[in-house]
Amino acid sequence: MDRDILFERGRRNLSRIGRIITIAAGKGGVGKSVVAASLALTLGERGKNVGLLDLDVHGPSIPDILHARGEIVASKEGLKPLSVHGIKVMSTGMLIGDNPLPTKGEDKRNLISFLVGLTNWGNLDYLIIDLPPGTGDETIWVLRALRGLKNVGVLVVTTPSILAVSVVRRLLSMLEDEKIRVIGIVENMAYFNCEGKVYRPFGRFSEELVRRFKLRVIASLPIDPSLEQTIYDGGLPHRSSEELKSAFYRLCDVVESSWGE
Ligand SMILES: Nc1ncnc2c1ncn2[C@@H]1O[C@H](COP(=O)(O)OP(=O)(O)OP(=O)(O)O)[C@@H](O)[C@H]1O
Ligand SMILES: [Mg+2]
Repeated sequence: MDRDILFERGRRNLSRIGRIITIAAGKGGVGKSVVAASLALTLGERGKNVGLLDLDVHGPSIPDILHARGEIVASKEGLKPLSVHGIKVMSTGMLIGDNPLPTKGEDKRNLISFLVGLTNWGNLDYLIIDLPPGTGDETIWVLRALRGLKNVGVLVVTTPSILAVSVVRRLLSMLEDEKIRVIGIVENMAYFNCEGKVYRPFGRFSEELVRRFKLRVIASLPIDPSLEQTIYDGGLPHRSSEELKSAFYRLCDVVESSWGE
């Protein structure tokens, strides 16, 4: 199918979904995929119909984080996402499998248009979209698909590190230009708790950026030393520790009320 037709079909699909939360970040490795998966799982546990769409072509981590294995079935109704842990999941990784990654911008855009245009989500209250890091091709393409839709909000995930600030600024400027609503900043790996004493090894997120873009830091998530092992052992990230679990519940409260609930 022609890419422009798929793109328009994708926009129609997205406009029918209750709420779309896009998880974006300036830098790589700051925890977007962990936050995307945990938010989706927590919303699912709160009784919402949730889809999770992993559009990271080069590093699709969602299938690994959720231990989601299985065939994607195509029918005339479209591609059927996998149902795992009470949510529906679709990932570039599930389509590419072990085949070579698309390297050209053109091929990546085709793959994203294909997934956005042809996935049949059914009725969803929330669709969480996990993006690759930065303001590259895929991100620009996805933000274009979301432009003008009223049901979209972005969560910007970052560590509070000063090195992350300049890249986050670029991302926030881009979101401002595209007129896409930012729900807030999620500071990940913001602190750790050692015998009751709290340490913040990366400091705090830039107050200057918060003021400049009129934003709020809506969650500060702890560094959880058991997270890697939890995932490795087949567990789910939002339940890795009590502290992380309650932080994700609080994040869901803020996200849900940001739509005026
Ligand atoms: N709060 C946390 N505490 C401890 N480890 C964490 C936390 N958040 C994420 N991690 C770990 O950091 C690593 C990067 O996380 P993740 O893959 O979610 O980042 P990402 O931003 O999606 O990366 P990429 O840019 O490659 O897509 C993973 O090994 C993950 O388990
Ligand atoms: Mg990721």
